[in-house]
Amino acid sequence: MLGQRLVKYTPAGFQVVATDISPDHQFIEKNKYRSCDLTDRDALIALIDEVQPNKIINAAAYTNVDGAEKERDLCWLVNVIAMENLVFAARRVRASIYHISTDYVFDGTKGPYKETDTPSPLGFYGQSKLAAEQVLKGSPLNFTIARTMVLYGVSENNRPDFVGWMIKKLRRGDAVHIVTDQIGNTTFSDDLARALWELVRTQYHGVVNVAGREIVSRYDFALKIAEIFDLDASLIKPITSSALKQRAPRPLKSGLIVDKAINTLGLELSDVEEGLRKYKALVQG
Ligand SMILES: NC(=O)c1ccc[n+]([C@@H]2O[C@H](COP(=O)([O-])OP(=O)(O)OC[C@H]3O[C@@H](n4cnc5c(N)ncnc54)[C@H](OP(=O)(O)O)[C@@H]3O)[C@@H](O)[C@H]2O)c1
Repeated sequence: MLGQRLVKYTPAGFQVVATDISPDHQFIEKNKYRSCDLTDRDALIALIDEVQPNKIINAAAYTNVDGAEKERDLCWLVNVIAMENLVFAARRVRASIYHISTDYVFDGTKGPYKETDTPSPLGFYGQSKLAAEQVLKGSPLNFTIARTMVLYGVSENNRPDFVGWMIKKLRRGDAVHIVTDQIGNTTFSDDLARALWELVRTQYHGVVNVAGREIVSRYDFALKIAEIFDLDASLIKPITSSALKQRAPRPLKSGLIVDKAINTLGLELSDVEEGLRKYKALVQG
């Protein structure tokens, strides 16, 4: 989801080589796209040696939070071992790394969180994302860790994002049960992609929260989606996380404080309504 938008918003003056594990991505120009499995160290080294990037943005991850509890080895391979491979390969060409992390490094007992708060992940996905941060922090490279959360946006050949899924369900007249006790920022992927490019352009290094500027419950987010897309909000039923019984534990009172991103770094991050209106403009052309 994010990687495609990063390609779309490549600023003038930068040349991007986009990679993913898929053999091809029709919608990314052929000469810009190279398939690469980040868990294959030799393949990654060969690609990095050939391209000689001076910056690497890592938007790849094992992102299935519930799946991670079952597929622990795969999750660790993609989120942690691949990061070790990236660090190894980046050192050969002295590239800096811009890495995307998550609020799931926190336990959600006392959010919203500052960049300097102490992580304490609840589930295996969060543990793997924290371990990836630690790999990067322990490296001699210049690095940026951008923590984000509840990403939504438009992408091709991908599973639907939360907003797309909600719209589909409500248009069909299906009732949906949405949690009232998971709280945090909702982040439009185009905002995040542009913000990341700004961090790259200004060569910002360090840890920074980059997420939507407003904190809401998932239930209130769903109601706002119904409002913006003129859908039937009565189909949205409140539920608690304990009743929903998701496999992986979720940080409940989460959220990322984005003061540094907005006030210090001047990044443009939407509130809930602005983000959804931009999304709507995108899907309705
Ligand atoms: N989505 C959210 O709500 C959210 C919230 C907080 C943080 N984040 C973080 O934001 C980043 C981007 O997330 P996203 O939502 O854009 O995720 P996404 O749509 O799942 O994209 C991740 C990409 O990584 C690729 N990938 C998986 N294994 C790979 C490998 N071995 N080698 C190369 N590529 C591989 C996936 O390919 P396949 O699809 O073919 O497996 C997929 O294209 C991730 O770091 C994620 O942890 C996301």
